[in-house]
Amino acid sequence: MDTLHKPHVLMISEITVDGKLTLGKGVSSKILMKHMSHEAEILLHETRAEYDAIMVGSSTIRIDNSFLTVRMVEGENPLRVIPNSLADLPLDANVFNTTNARTILAVSKAAPKERVDAFTAKGVDVVVCGEDRVDFPKLMDILYTKYQIKKLIIEGGPTLNWHMLHHDLVDEIRLIHMPFIVGGSDTPSLVGGMQINSENDMIKLELMNTKMYGSNMVTEYRVLY
Ligand SMILES: NC(=O)c1ccc[n+]([C@@H]2O[C@H](COP(=O)([O-])OP(=O)(O)OC[C@H]3O[C@@H](n4cnc5c(N)ncnc54)[C@H](OP(=O)(O)O)[C@@H]3O)[C@@H](O)[C@H]2O)c1
Repeated sequence: MDTLHKPHVLMISEITVDGKLTLGKGVSSKILMKHMSHEAEILLHETRAEYDAIMVGSSTIRIDNSFLTVRMVEGENPLRVIPNSLADLPLDANVFNTTNARTILAVSKAAPKERVDAFTAKGVDVVVCGEDRVDFPKLMDILYTKYQIKKLIIEGGPTLNWHMLHHDLVDEIRLIHMPFIVGGSDTPSLVGGMQINSENDMIKLELMNTKMYGSNMVTEYRVLY
C-alpha cells in the first residue's frame, strides 16, 4: 500500500484544572467556554482563520451544535470536517449550513445511501472512508491529497481525540486552561478511549510554550511518537 499523507494536526481544547472538557456527561462545552477570557477567544478564532480545516466529533455536533466558523477576527472560515460513520447526524445542525463555510461529512461504507444523498443535496461534501467506521488515517490522506488540507485543527471531544492520538496523527496539542474544578468520574476529559496497559504506552509530550491570555494560561506541546 502507498504511504498515506496527512496534514499537520493541532489538537486544541479548553480544559479545567481537573482535566475535564465540560461540566458533565452530555453537557455542552459552550457553558465552560462562556468563562474563557476575551484574549483566549481571540486566539481560538485566530487559529481557526490560520488553519485550512477544523474537525470535531459527531457527538460534539449533537451536544454543542457547533458552527466552527471564524467570528471574532477577520479571516476565512476553515473547511469543516465531521466524522460520522452512519451519516446519522441531524441535517439541520448548524455545521451543515454551507452558506458561509464548506463542510465535509466523512462516512463509512455502512452509511445508508438515502442519508448520504440528503447531505449531498444540502451542499455537504460526503467522503467515504472505512468499512463500518470512519478510517482516520485514510481520511487524513484524502484531506491532504484531494482537498489540499495542509493544516488541520481538531477541537475534540475526547473520543475523537483518542482515535487521532491512537493512530499517531496528532502533531501538536494546545490547551486553554480554565481555572475551575468540576469533578465527575464520567465527565469527559481530554482523551477518552481505552485504558493503557503499561507506562510504555503513555503518549509522551514535549512542552514548547506557555503564555497567559487574560485569565487563561495556554500551554503548547509537541507530541513525541
Ligand atoms: N472543551 C472542549 O474543548 C470540547 C471540545 C469538543 C467537545 N467537547 C465536549 O466533548 C463531549 C463529546 O465528546 P465525545 O467523546 O462524547 O464525542 P466526540 O469525540 O465529539 O465524537 C465521537 C467521534 O468518534 C467517532 N468514533 C467513535 N468510535 C469510533 C471508531 N471505532 N472508529 C472511528 N470513529 C469512531 C464518532 O463517529 P461516529 O459518528 O461514527 O460514531 C465521532 O465522530 C461533549 O460534551 C462536548 O461538549 C469539549
